[in-house]
Amino acid sequence: MTEEKQSILKTRNVKLWYGNKEALHGIDLDFPKKGITALIGPSGSGKSTYLRALNRMHDLEDNITVTGSFDFMGEDIYAPTTDTVELRKKIGMVFQQPNPFPFSIYDNVAFGLRLAGVKDKDVLDKAVEESLKAASIWEEVKDNLNKSALGLSGGQQQRVSIARVLATKPDLLLLDEPTSALDPVSAHNIEETLLELRDQYAMIIVTHSLSQASRISDQTAFFLNGEMVEKGDTRKIFIDPEKKETADYISGRFG
Ligand SMILES: Nc1ncnc2c1ncn2[C@@H]1O[C@H](COP(=O)(O)OP(=O)(O)O)[C@@H](O)[C@H]1O
Ligand SMILES: [Mg+2]
Repeated sequence: MTEEKQSILKTRNVKLWYGNKEALHGIDLDFPKKGITALIGPSGSGKSTYLRALNRMHDLEDNITVTGSFDFMGEDIYAPTTDTVELRKKIGMVFQQPNPFPFSIYDNVAFGLRLAGVKDKDVLDKAVEESLKAASIWEEVKDNLNKSALGLSGGQQQRVSIARVLATKPDLLLLDEPTSALDPVSAHNIEETLLELRDQYAMIIVTHSLSQASRISDQTAFFLNGEMVEKGDTRKIFIDPEKKETADYISGRFG
């Protein structure tokens, strides 16, 4: 037996209510320190709801109740003392729609560091360059760092969004259908970027593309109706799932 991989995050019995409607019914999941976990399942199965709970995005809305335990490297994500700004630097989020701010490319990537009080130009320059390189967009934008990020293509904007998240040196990246608003070539570029980051970061990606999950993820968890039905090595889930619901979904019988 190989040694059990150390987890970066463990959740237990995660439940979430929108008003009085229970949307998550007790999710247990562990995430390794490096590599990609895909969350798959039909629309409305609770994937985004769960992902957003991991960096307390639901705090921004009223009338949502979250219970359960969230152990992030020994820290309780929902402890009353947790600073959510700090938390979201360690657990960064990339959304479906690329969401650059209406600033220059440089200012987008430097944003989180400036928010954290970094003023030194050399430090910022270095972080911006490293982050854009890590997000595989440096070569395309290095001569136009002062141009508006809004002038980039959707795929480039998404890689700038990834660079912006990487700039604050997160431990965990959450990605909610990061390629579904993009053309196939841009989607492919994002997948390549994620594969390059896979050895350095823990990533959780929500995707409704089964082929994407099978191409890029190490581990896959299948959600259905607010339950996590099954999780395991991606190859195993796709070739030999334990549960009938998983097999039905994988083989395209619903969803
Ligand atoms: N802001 C919200 N208010 C009320 N219900 C919501 C809200 N967001 C999602 N839901 C409901 O929660 C369930 C899970 O949704 P979601 O997490 O978005 O699913 P997925 O990401 O798997 O498509 C669905 O029934 C959805 O309608
Ligand atoms: Mg969703």
